[in-house]
Amino acid sequence: MNNVAFVNASPRNKNSTSSYLTKELINICNNNIHSKEFFISNIKDYESLFKKLVLFDKLVFVTPLYVDSLPSELIEFMLRFENYIMDKNINNIHIYAIVNCGFLEGHQNHIALDIIKNFTHKCNLQWCYGIGIGGGEFLRNSKSMPLRVLVKKPIYEDLVILSDSLIGNNKHFENLFVNPKLFRTLFIPMANQFWLSEAKKNKLSKKDLLKIYE
Ligand SMILES: Cc1cc2nc3c(=O)[nH]c(=O)nc-3n(C[C@H](O)[C@H](O)[C@H](O)COP(=O)(O)O)c2cc1C
Repeated sequence: MNNVAFVNASPRNKNSTSSYLTKELINICNNNIHSKEFFISNIKDYESLFKKLVLFDKLVFVTPLYVDSLPSELIEFMLRFENYIMDKNINNIHIYAIVNCGFLEGHQNHIALDIIKNFTHKCNLQWCYGIGIGGGEFLRNSKSMPLRVLVKKPIYEDLVILSDSLIGNNKHFENLFVNPKLFRTLFIPMANQFWLSEAKKNKLSKKDLLKIYE
């Protein structure tokens, strides 16, 4: 049975869309993998984490998209992990990734997936593929709605493909891009309203959100 580590880079840890997607994927794998989720956003002891991670056959990076790229904590993790991997001459770990973003289009995550792919090649590890998922906040806020319902079904179907890869049943090697089945015209005002209320909770106004930081 394959040992799979999920490396979650969201600062929201267990409350993240990343963790929600991980749980759904593990459920789909239906006890056909041994898995563990690692949260890296507050990591202090990199060395002991790396020692554990290299014991797994497969690593799945599960992360939000930040400014068309990756959270800084994940970049830091990757820089240190690269040194560790090169130093120990490890090359047999298979790497997958799930990047989710706030915009509706899963394709927004393509640069972030390329960053993880390039990192994998630089470490001489085995890049497999990733999934770019849109509508991340919608997914996090609709956890009670099963993944198989029509609106979320495209995500379910791509997670099934990834679960087959993790179990070892298929040889898919192309990135997948997917989003919930929602009309953009409905999604955009909903998303704007959501981010405004999130800003308000953090004592920020609409004007603050539109400010350009030099
Ligand atoms: C600092 C920051 C930058 C972000 N940048 C983007 C972005 O460039 N494009 C996008 O679609 N969403 C962006 N988002 C939205 C997140 O990717 C989205 O909310 C995601 O669902 C969070 O996932 P998580 O719960 O796993 O952390 C950003 C969010 C934050 C906090």
